[in-house]
Amino acid sequence: MQDSATFWDKAADKYAKSPIADEAAYAYTLERTRTYLSAGDNILEVGCGTGSTALLLAGDVGRITASDISSNMISIATEKAKSEGIQNVTFVTAALSDDTLDNGPYDAVLAHNLIHLLDDVPAALRGIHGLLKSDGVFISKTVCLPKSGAPFKFRLLKAIVPLMQWVGKAPYVNFMDTSELESLVTKAGFKIVETGTYPPPSRYIVARKI
Ligand SMILES: C[S@@+](CC[C@H](N)C(=O)[O-])C[C@H]1O[C@@H](n2cnc3c(N)ncnc32)[C@H](O)[C@@H]1O
Repeated sequence: MQDSATFWDKAADKYAKSPIADEAAYAYTLERTRTYLSAGDNILEVGCGTGSTALLLAGDVGRITASDISSNMISIATEKAKSEGIQNVTFVTAALSDDTLDNGPYDAVLAHNLIHLLDDVPAALRGIHGLLKSDGVFISKTVCLPKSGAPFKFRLLKAIVPLMQWVGKAPYVNFMDTSELESLVTKAGFKIVETGTYPPPSRYIVARKI
């Protein structure tokens, strides 16, 4: 299987053109996220993709560092910031685990549609915990598949993904269910303060550093 940066670099143009799958769910979680942010906040978004969320939240906070492992995603995001005249978002090419990522500390770390793409989730969550100020919030959306009793389309997905990976059409996917993920978040030193599934299989979790 190709590495993550290569996979997402190849996917970037198509990803930029794809519509949001569920606009209402996206708008709802964006509004929920805003309730945890304040005007002067210093925010980090990891796995920011083409930057849409960071750019929409730019007016709500002090500044945002938005990072992604794919330089092609970051080029598209940087162009969007320039054309929208947004100056308080800095886009950087970096993996979540990179030492080059500014280590904050941050008032909030956002990871939307990223955690299920990582092979060492406990290490990633510990890393995010370390980047936050005390009492800071970690806000994430993660694709979680039910362990059993899953609707047929999700069970099919689990069977198809390895085949798609084999032909380079899917990235690495860490299949977790919501209880596994939430237990890992708690073990990393967070108190979960809000959860929801908007829409299945995407789990929205807000967790405060303790
Ligand atoms: C499914 S996309 C989500 C993009 C955006 N957050 C969104 O919700 O539309 C996943 C993104 O995570 C990035 N990514 C994958 N592995 C990463 C890692 N280890 N560190 C940082 N970014 C990563 C990919 O390059 C891709 O842009």
